[in-house]
Amino acid sequence: MTIMLVTGTGTEIGKTVVTAAVATLALGAGRRVAVLKPAQTGVGPDEPGDTDEVVRLAGPLTTSELGRYPEPLAPATAAARSGLPPVSPEQIAKEAARLALDHDLVLVEGAGGLLVRYDEQGSTLAEVPAALAALGHSCTVLLVTTAGLGTLNTTALTAEALRNRGVPLLGLVIGAWPAEPDLAARCNLADLPVVAGAPLLGALPAGLVGSAHGGADRVPLRTTARSCLAPALGGVWAVSP
Ligand SMILES: Nc1ncnc2c1ncn2[C@@H]1O[C@H](COP(=O)(O)OP(=O)(O)OP(=O)(O)O)[C@@H](O)[C@H]1O
Ligand SMILES: [Mg+2]
Repeated sequence: MTIMLVTGTGTEIGKTVVTAAVATLALGAGRRVAVLKPAQTGVGPDEPGDTDEVVRLAGPLTTSELGRYPEPLAPATAAARSGLPPVSPEQIAKEAARLALDHDLVLVEGAGGLLVRYDEQGSTLAEVPAALAALGHSCTVLLVTTAGLGTLNTTALTAEALRNRGVPLLGLVIGAWPAEPDLAARCNLADLPVVAGAPLLGALPAGLVGSAHGGADRVPLRTTARSCLAPALGGVWAVSP
């Protein structure tokens, strides 16, 4: 599958870090990788965005951004307030399809959670699969979630929203798995796939984005990604009961 949408159960839960982990494994396997962040909010024109963070963590790859808005808000609100044009699902699909022409993997990182609005019509990332289908492309969806109490509800809600739109969910990845997981986190390893109706495909350790990762020293992220992501994402991880 060439085009993969990376969404989350909320904002700041590790979509970018998971995108970098999936990207570094694909790069290590010799695949040509592109990362598309359709709408980047909360950064100025010269500041690094999420795609820069992916490059920092995973190494050189193709990046693309369709809209950039300075205020840290949902893309629709940020676009309206800035006077800049919003980004539509059709534009996202078109750019992902363009990148798929000469890349083996196109990772599309959404803004915040799945139903965050991109424009005043209420378009969301959940409409991108249909827009891609209209261009003759299919895609998979990866859902990044949290480890602890509360994740079963937000994960189930997101999975249900995808199901209601006829969008298949490839699987879940926990963005930050604590060094000392509490009872809820440990139980969630078994419960998350049940409430999502999709497999758990990995759990990245909390504290992953430290000084030991990124920059010139990229081997540790690839090593960690390999041991923390499932074979479906290029790693060797398997959930242990
Ligand atoms: N496994 C991890 N270990 C250490 N830090 C992490 C981990 N996952 C995420 N973080 C940190 O948490 C913050 C949020 O992560 P990230 O930027 O990946 O979230 P996001 O879901 O992409 O957010 P956004 O909605 O803004 O795009 C970042 O500062 C990131 O470095
Ligand atoms: Mg991000």
